[in-house]
Amino acid sequence: MKTKRSATTAAPADPCCLVIFGASGDLARRLLVPALYNLDAGGLLPEGFAIIGVARADKSEEVFRTELEGGLRHFAIGKVDDEIVRRLLNCVDYIGGDADDPATYQKLGKALTRVEGALDTHRNRLFYLATPPSEFAPIGRHLGETGLAHEENGAWRRLIVEKPFGTDLVSARALNRELLKVLDERQIYRIDHYLGKETVQNIMVLRFANGLFEPIWNRHHIDHVQITVGETLTVGNRGSFYDAIGALRDMVPNHLFQLLSLVAMEPPSRFEAHAVRSEKAQALDAIHVPHDSSVLQDTVRAQYTAAWVGDNEVEDYRRTKDVRPDTTTETYVALKLLVDNWRWAGVPFYLRTGKALKSRRTEVAIKFKQAPFAMFRNTPVDRLAQNFLVIGIQPDECIGLQFNAKVPGPVITISGVGMTFKYEDYFDAAPSTGYETLIYDCMIGDSMLFQRADEIEAAWRVVQPFLDAWRNAGPDGLAVYKAGSEGPAEADQLLARDGRRWRPIA
Ligand code: BG6
Repeated sequence: MKTKRSATTAAPADPCCLVIFGASGDLARRLLVPALYNLDAGGLLPEGFAIIGVARADKSEEVFRTELEGGLRHFAIGKVDDEIVRRLLNCVDYIGGDADDPATYQKLGKALTRVEGALDTHRNRLFYLATPPSEFAPIGRHLGETGLAHEENGAWRRLIVEKPFGTDLVSARALNRELLKVLDERQIYRIDHYLGKETVQNIMVLRFANGLFEPIWNRHHIDHVQITVGETLTVGNRGSFYDAIGALRDMVPNHLFQLLSLVAMEPPSRFEAHAVRSEKAQALDAIHVPHDSSVLQDTVRAQYTAAWVGDNEVEDYRRTKDVRPDTTTETYVALKLLVDNWRWAGVPFYLRTGKALKSRRTEVAIKFKQAPFAMFRNTPVDRLAQNFLVIGIQPDECIGLQFNAKVPGPVITISGVGMTFKYEDYFDAAPSTGYETLIYDCMIGDSMLFQRADEIEAAWRVVQPFLDAWRNAGPDGLAVYKAGSEGPAEADQLLARDGRRWRPIA
């Protein structure tokens, strides 16, 4: 029996007041407050800590606290400690008001003065934008105009922005410009919750803390890379949001590109925010995409049709509530991308993500080049396993290696075998919503796990030609796949054309 290791304890974060815009929303209830609870339970919240919730509805602090407590008890992972809940809710204030109304910020200013007089928050302020994206820029502007985000006397001001950060290159650039009028880049923390996942953070450790992988991490040894984010979830009740966005915008420039950049980046000179983010941005910048309709050859977009996902009956995407009946918005996307630099020239990165698929599976699979099998000429090729290094992100948190071995016996028979490292076998994980590390890092001023303006813009630059080509193509080329399947046949053809195939989503 192995002894499991748990995380080394860290010091509590800096004292501060956390102002959550959109405090009555789903994100705050489901993820942020449970994450704050977990941080407190782990001794990582500072003594001087307060929360001010801001949302449109006019309600009392008492009502707001009761709502938060309800959410916390519902969404907390594991048993809830009443003492921690009491301590956390004790430092909660609430302000009702419109995000674009100057009066809201006057009330907020007064609340901050009150809180900062009563608690030793060192007057540090962390503004969390958990609102619809249309409110990001107005909130930033008001925080700037009222001086609430102005740093003075050594007190810091930081801003966390949720996704989506823009809906195309132009809007992402405009949002960056707006926020950078008010705050320095070092004060802006653009969240991608994939970077809060331990398995995602571990990609860097796997690559750079081991001498084993880096020498073969290049075009001389790697045949191609597959990045899959498969979901069984349907669009459900998010119809109006999703139909305006689609799978490409919702998942690719953020989550899938975070995975891609961690796999493709050069080793940073230091393990710190500036060095790491510069290398990630460079990797994205090296992706080559033609700016004409030829991009259509390297992409597949599709919608799910009615069928079953496990035991759940799923209706056609086009029949989903708040989705246009003739919509061409994709619920599945597959792309072939080339990272045009010395390390990766000629190595395709195949990306796919979709809703209502057969299984929930997120993984990065690195396929190594085939050995020259001349020696085993008599073994049918399909009996030889492909050499894959598979980084399982979720739900299986693991790293597996597939290779060929001899089947015991007098004749040479070859069979594919595997070795797998599972996180749960080695480590005791503290309960986590995935937001704990991100909030903590922001409170200590470490922006490594957040996206810098240039990363965001580099990602949209890659995605934009696909968006443009699809818009021009309209419904032409839009494929379909049955809910509960592994995606459209066209996605299989995308790889088959290159003599390759996807790993199963099982
Ligand atoms: C969100 C998308 O950013 O990520 C959702 O908006 C998606 O559509 C979700 O379901 C997936 O996150 P996870 O952590 O469940 O893989």
